[in-house]
Amino acid sequence: MTARIVVLISGEGTNLQSLLDRGEELGGTITRVISDRPDVGGLKRADRANIPTGIVAYGNYPDRETWQKALEDKVAAEEPDLVVLAGFMRILPGSFVSRWPVLNVHPSLLPAFPGAHAVEDALAWGVMVTGCTVHFVDEEVDHGPVVAQVAVVVRPGDTPETPHTRIKKVEHRLLPDCVTLFCQGQITVDGRHVRISQ
Ligand code: GRF
Repeated sequence: MTARIVVLISGEGTNLQSLLDRGEELGGTITRVISDRPDVGGLKRADRANIPTGIVAYGNYPDRETWQKALEDKVAAEEPDLVVLAGFMRILPGSFVSRWPVLNVHPSLLPAFPGAHAVEDALAWGVMVTGCTVHFVDEEVDHGPVVAQVAVVVRPGDTPETPHTRIKKVEHRLLPDCVTLFCQGQITVDGRHVRISQ
């Protein structure tokens, strides 16, 4: 049986595109792309690929709890085996992350530089190597078990945009690779430790 995947986005959606570009090799079917913001590039990418979309815009709800419930209901309607956060910039509640396996891609080598400004923070710190992480999502921000990481070298004269472009290039291979491993049942989680079987 093919895994059913829901992808959550907030923006440009280049990571979503990398999942779409894998086609059948992804090993699962993206049944819906849901954004917390209207009019973002990622929604157009989904439209072009004929993937159903949904918008659960944060601003349309009176408070965080109501928005979270609306999002969770929309995802639940898809009966997903996996939820992928591909540039989704909001924190999900415990009820959500304990209900389905949730994978996130983050532009740093976690646990260094969690949060929304990972690339800027890494450069400001003066690191010479940063990178990207694919991890399972738990109740804490950018905290769950690490599935895979790839390092990216910081070059003299880099501005936050330049390493982020290089990091995204790596993300576009790593995220689909991890989703495929998940869909093929090759990922086991034991506490903080992830094992990938061949
Ligand atoms: C990526 O760098 C990802 O690591 C971070 O947000 C960015 C999303 O980019 N969580 P895109 O919308 O996939 O182009």
